[in-house]
Amino acid sequence: MAKRVVLAYSGGLDTSVAVRWMQEEWGVEVIALAADVGQPRADAGVSGEDFDAITARARGAGAVDAKVVDVRAEFADEYVLPALKAHALYEGRYPLVSALSRPVIARHLVAAAREFGADAVAHGCTGKGNDQVRFEVSVRSLAPDLEVLAPVRVWGLTREDAIDYAKRFEIPLTVTKDKLYSVDENLVGRAIECGVMEDPWVAPPAGVYEITRDAADAPDAGRDLVVRFESGVPVALDGTAMPLHQLITTLNGWVGEYGFGRIDMVENRRVGIKSRETYECPGSLALIAAHADLESIALERDLQREKARLEPRYAELVYDGLWFSPLRRALDAFVESAQEDMTGEVRLRLEPGRCFANGRRAQRALYDYELATYDAADSFRHEDAAGFVRLWGLSLETWARRHAPGS
Ligand code: ARG
Repeated sequence: MAKRVVLAYSGGLDTSVAVRWMQEEWGVEVIALAADVGQPRADAGVSGEDFDAITARARGAGAVDAKVVDVRAEFADEYVLPALKAHALYEGRYPLVSALSRPVIARHLVAAAREFGADAVAHGCTGKGNDQVRFEVSVRSLAPDLEVLAPVRVWGLTREDAIDYAKRFEIPLTVTKDKLYSVDENLVGRAIECGVMEDPWVAPPAGVYEITRDAADAPDAGRDLVVRFESGVPVALDGTAMPLHQLITTLNGWVGEYGFGRIDMVENRRVGIKSRETYECPGSLALIAAHADLESIALERDLQREKARLEPRYAELVYDGLWFSPLRRALDAFVESAQEDMTGEVRLRLEPGRCFANGRRAQRALYDYELATYDAADSFRHEDAAGFVRLWGLSLETWARRHAPGS
């Protein structure tokens, strides 16, 4: 059994109890690692404050050391961005909030294990979810020599038991017995599950959503905003350049205000169960819409179609925990080569509950006015069309003759 363990620490009930439980039951030293992946915390504009409390709590629970890593820029640039370029939406809808953050956290778990001379890493996931798959597969892909421990999967404690355990060991917590939902959040958005929503017929109660307004409370007056892309990378909003993690955070605010970005779906988890999930992802959904719109004007037809075929596969492999795979790298290379000419701007229109493109332009747009227009400027060679269409339909025409009555 391991002697030193780096635990992916959120500051919540389970991971706090896990710090102490692993010490008591397995006799290991625990180092808590908290990652700032851009959790949109309502109570703290600057994440630093929050994270001080989190590390203090980890120490209070018995961690020999506690560390916070600010991975917002790395998360945005190396994980969120490739998925955005790939328009990665799991089962057509979910922009992979949790699925994208697990690999970056895993990478930092491994780095911390090296730094602290640990021989294992641990996570606080249950046995029913996807996140255990993502953590474990990612860690094993990066560091096959490290053990991966999953205390919550084996300890057999109910939520009540865990609260009692925390009381017994005086672990400082701010939880109540009736926690309503399980929430995971980062730059990409928020995932909210469990509680009354485990009945898929029950509408999400008011209060589950925090970064999107109800569309009924959105401003009546619509709003336009312009996203500028350079080689497929969103680089500016309304002419103001900013780093990607800040751009997404800003968009979350602008778009969330209009009540766009809520998702309510039943999805297929990797472990084979169907699960009712709600999400709010205003900024990331708006950016995917804008990026796809830019491709519509600047990406060559066949490349655009082939890319569209690969996009669901990309989303699946990220969802399924295979971020650090040769397939993901190969798909990224394909997607990246399609980004060469994706320099331009998309205008998004915000209206209550809606976000859609209503203008686009690109330096190397393939949209050609003289080809498309019905005006006098028309340069399309109409005389080419007749022969083309005849040959296009020749096979069907031949078939139809053979099947004509009496033939
Ligand atoms: N169902 C989503 C996913 O698998 C969200 C998971 C949220 N995780 C959580 N610990 N609440 O990606």
